Amino acid sequence: MGFAFPPPTFSIGTLLLALSIFLVLPELSAGITRHYKFDIVLQNVTRLCHTRSTVTVNGQYPGPKIVVREGDRVVVKVVNHMQNNITIHWHGIRQLQSQWADGPAYITQCPIQTGRSYVYNFTITGQRGTLWWHAHHSWLRATVYGPFIILPKRGVPYPFPKPYKEVPILLGEWFNEDPEAVIAQSLWTGAGPNVSEAHTINGLPGPLYNCSAKDTFKLKVKPGKTYLLRLINAALNDDLFFSIANHSMTVVETDASYVKPFVTDTILIGPGETTTVLLRTKPASPNATFFMAARPYNTGLGTIDNTTVAGLLEYTSTSPTSMKKLPLLKPTLPAINDTAAAANFSTKLRSLATLQFPANVPQTVDRRFYFTVGLGTRPCPKNQTCQGPNGTKFAASVNTVSFVFPSTALLQAHYLGQSNGIYTTDFPNNPPFPFNYTGTPPNDTFVINGTKAVVLPFNTNVELVMQDTSIQGAESHPLHLHGYNFYIVGQGFGNYDPVNDPGKFNLVDPVERNTAGVPSGGWIAIRFRADNPGVWLMHCHFDVHLSWGLVMAWVVNDGPLPGQKLPPPPSDLPKC
Ligand code: C2O
Repeated sequence: MGFAFPPPTFSIGTLLLALSIFLVLPELSAGITRHYKFDIVLQNVTRLCHTRSTVTVNGQYPGPKIVVREGDRVVVKVVNHMQNNITIHWHGIRQLQSQWADGPAYITQCPIQTGRSYVYNFTITGQRGTLWWHAHHSWLRATVYGPFIILPKRGVPYPFPKPYKEVPILLGEWFNEDPEAVIAQSLWTGAGPNVSEAHTINGLPGPLYNCSAKDTFKLKVKPGKTYLLRLINAALNDDLFFSIANHSMTVVETDASYVKPFVTDTILIGPGETTTVLLRTKPASPNATFFMAARPYNTGLGTIDNTTVAGLLEYTSTSPTSMKKLPLLKPTLPAINDTAAAANFSTKLRSLATLQFPANVPQTVDRRFYFTVGLGTRPCPKNQTCQGPNGTKFAASVNTVSFVFPSTALLQAHYLGQSNGIYTTDFPNNPPFPFNYTGTPPNDTFVINGTKAVVLPFNTNVELVMQDTSIQGAESHPLHLHGYNFYIVGQGFGNYDPVNDPGKFNLVDPVERNTAGVPSGGWIAIRFRADNPGVWLMHCHFDVHLSWGLVMAWVVNDGPLPGQKLPPPPSDLPKC
């Protein structure tokens, strides 16, 4: 006998509920927990026929790749087996409700000392795309870095054709000398630091350097396929142009935010930035091999590593015997100081701004800030000769304040309500001494030392204009904000005009990023909503400018509701 009716407990309502849960499952699906262990160890690494003891994660250079999905919890146990202190930063991860896991030394934590460990524990909320992780103490990130890839939730497609393969492309710098010695010497003498010997692709300098041909990154591809290249600029001090001979790329995402796709031959990528592109290979195997190459974009006065790194794009179906004779095609990269090419690329970036991936640009502003960013000098200490400009020391500042890292973590001081003697909240909202920022520099170029922060009430809509200065030469500055993404609503050359420029702002589909290049001799305007309580560093991602003080901090207060408060610190938070 069959059922005439469903069993009495099985109501239509239950059925509908079950059905609706099933239908929204991809959205609701809680992520899984992914465990990683990072052992910080010294490892001999040889490049350019030069071997040196190198700080690494698990002996790897570059470090291991982290691949997770949106919604996952990530637990990384970092154990420090070397003499230097270290911290790890998850560049671009918003750290909502996990502020203590952000990682900048003396900001959200004291560094992990020799023989100690710290567990970074955070959930990926509302983000997907290419990010990366790196050491955030002194210049250790020179070799301690790796990709951090966030795939969409299971069952959620990319807003572009599914690629055949995904390949991380990490651009970096190789120093024959210990990078810690390089920055220590620069800080002592006051001069610019020695430059790196080579740029690298996935840790490899490639065939254009002496004694390096065997250390060449090779991307073997099949014809007629789409590859997703996840480009990361992990270089310490160089903006880079990147190009692949005879191939164009379609940019689909930057800093883990989707953009309106556009086709380009050349990419400009600043340190800290990520750019994800689709590379469509030729329909049939061409009788050629192709260089992919990167070299700096630079307008500053200082010496930089202006060398070119190359890797190979090889079509697999070319037979190995014929391969040797294949012509090698090289891309044409823009000239090193081609500011027009740099601006042409960065002004093309637009948020995807769809229903599924909206651009939530703050339409109103609660607080406006105008910050100068650039170089300056500090006096030479008595009884010393300095090698910076006119016998001074090089320094860098935001609104003339050169940031001094405290000896205890700012977030801890803020949490305990004990800022006294650790930081002050009088960071200037505007340049303290207005001058023609992009014109003839003033006579007095000295900076003011301080550990100063701006305090923001929870949910403040912030508009910040960052203005490059031409003291010691106009130069681009890749400014990185921790804990947030922001929208670049405007940019231009010369001095920002507070009367006429705001009318030209894009409040519809500006690009969303965590790092943005302040143009050489120009400005950018960004907006963000301060909805993440905590202490958040903002700094130039050129490590030399970071070391010289081009840094400030935002203190964002708690909101009224439970999910809007800074949680207590984890029990294993390192002590200073
Ligand atoms: Cu990618 Cu504060 O750094």
